Amino acid sequence: MAEVLERVDGWCGELVLRRAGADLEVIANGMFLMDTRNGESERLLVAAAVERAPRPARILIGGLGVGFSLRAALEEAGVGEIVVVEREPAVIEWNRSGPLRDVHGDALNDRRVTVVEADLVSWLRHTEQRFDVLCLDIDNGPQWTLTKGNAELYSGLGLDMLAGRLRPGGVLAVWSAQASAEFTEALRARFTDVRVLDVPVPRGEPDVVWLASP
Ligand SMILES: C[S@@+](CC[C@H](N)C(=O)[O-])C[C@H]1O[C@@H](n2cnc3c(N)ncnc32)[C@H](O)[C@@H]1O
Repeated sequence: MAEVLERVDGWCGELVLRRAGADLEVIANGMFLMDTRNGESERLLVAAAVERAPRPARILIGGLGVGFSLRAALEEAGVGEIVVVEREPAVIEWNRSGPLRDVHGDALNDRRVTVVEADLVSWLRHTEQRFDVLCLDIDNGPQWTLTKGNAELYSGLGLDMLAGRLRPGGVLAVWSAQASAEFTEALRARFTDVRVLDVPVPRGEPDVVWLASP
C-alpha cells in the first residue's frame, strides 16, 4: 500500500508524490508518471547522446522527473553546463529539498546545473540558447503525451524547432515508453543520422530512445 507524501495541483490536474516500500512514485492526474525503481532507459537517453556529441557538451534536459537523467548527465565525462527545464514547481521542490533529493545525491546543487521552471515547448520557442545535446523525456512518448500542448514537440514544426536549437554536431535524444514508426519517419525526414534503441523493461513493451543528428 503506497503512502501519499504530498498532493498538489499541477499542470495536468492532481500531482501526487507517494512512497511505496523503498521507492517513490509520481502520479499525474491518476496516470503513472515516474518512479525510482529502474531508470535504465532514462540514463541511456543521456549517455548514448553525450557519447555522440562534441565536448564539453552543453546539455538540455526536458523534464526533471526523479532526476535519473540529470544524475546520468553529471556522471558523464566531458559534460559542461546542464540546463533542466521542468514546468511543475512541486517536482522541482521535491528534488531540491524533498524526498527525491537522495535519489540523485542532491544533483540540483551541482554548480553545472541550472533549473528553469517553465513549459518546455514555450521555452524552446522563445529561447535563443543552443545545445550540444537535447534530452527530451516529458511524456510517455510522441504518441502518448501528458498534455495536448506537448504534442507540438514531436510534430514537423517541433522537430524543425529542435534542430534549430542544436549546435553543429549536436544530438537530439527522445525517450518513449512505446515504439513509433511514424516518429522514426518524421525524424528521418529532417535528420541525417537517426538511430532507434530498444531498452527491455521487466514487464511490457521495451522503452525506446531515439537519437538524431542533423
Ligand atoms: C517521465 S518524467 C521525466 C523523467 C526523467 N527523465 C528522470 O530521469 O527522472 C517527465 C517530467 O517532465 C515534466 N514535464 C511534462 N511536460 C512538460 C513540459 N511541457 N515542460 C516541462 N516539463 C514537463 C513532468 O512534470 C515530469 O517531471
